[in-house]
Amino acid sequence: MKYAIISDIHGNYPALKIVIEDALKNGAQYFLFVGDYCISVPWPGEVVDAIRAMDNAHVVRGNEENYLNIPDGPDAQFDISRWSKHTLSDVQKKWLNDLPFRLDFSCEDVDIHMAHSSEVFIGDAENGEFSTYKIALRYKDRCISHEEFQNDIQHELRQNKELKQQLEGIPSGVYIFGHTHSQWHLQMGNHWFINPGSCGIPLDCTEFGAPYTLLTVENGMVMLEEQRIKYDVDSLIKKVKSTEQYEKVPVWSEVIFREWLTGHEKVMFFLKYAEEYAQRIGDERRPFAHGTWEEAFREWYNTNLKNLACPK
Ligand SMILES: [Fe+2]
Repeated sequence: MKYAIISDIHGNYPALKIVIEDALKNGAQYFLFVGDYCISVPWPGEVVDAIRAMDNAHVVRGNEENYLNIPDGPDAQFDISRWSKHTLSDVQKKWLNDLPFRLDFSCEDVDIHMAHSSEVFIGDAENGEFSTYKIALRYKDRCISHEEFQNDIQHELRQNKELKQQLEGIPSGVYIFGHTHSQWHLQMGNHWFINPGSCGIPLDCTEFGAPYTLLTVENGMVMLEEQRIKYDVDSLIKKVKSTEQYEKVPVWSEVIFREWLTGHEKVMFFLKYAEEYAQRIGDERRPFAHGTWEEAFREWYNTNLKNLACPK
């Protein structure tokens, strides 16, 4: 059986579409989705409908799905979640809310486990050192190759004490998760760990594209192929700029553009900057008010983002 593993689409339907097409061309018979379908890119409804229409998919819920239940409010910080929420129908929202947090199944004699975050299986082993924030700090503004990232994470996880401890407590099998927007895999004995990266907003400091991972289970053997489909980031940004999301939630959209252009985490850095900015001007209101949010973005952009280091 050949599975295509896809995660963290975040409303990026153009990316999902090319990944599904490529996976089918590569012989994928079944699709495994590990969370974060909406919020940040303007096509959450199209993403949900495409996945709902599949009768050959296992789907688990991500942490971003929680933000679709956010109440209406006057702050700017959560406008992106509210925009996504209001574009989705009740049926689509119910489908997202009803998704399971974890799925476990077998293929031949291989047990396969799916959840949004590796935390469910291996505690803080990945998230501690390889959160998107820490990855961005580690590589500064450098754009690295997928091989360099893969070597670094595999090398460090093999020596990670917490992972060694966790391995004793979990049965052998394939463990699939997303959440950190970084594509990697690791085999330790009869344990396989697979993070397919983020289909919609990849943040592993590598070249822009839409990553996913193919998992083949055949005669009890486990085989992996990591894919990253290149597509045009400029056209994508242009497309977003013509949407209602860009009109109504421009700051968040612009931050996401910078994540696409660099492959680095930017949202967390902007939130940190906005906090410092708000404190400096004596605005204690949280979540952030519209004026503070927009002014903080202007200043952050001018002081931090003038020279983007990575190629498009
Ligand atoms: Fe995500």
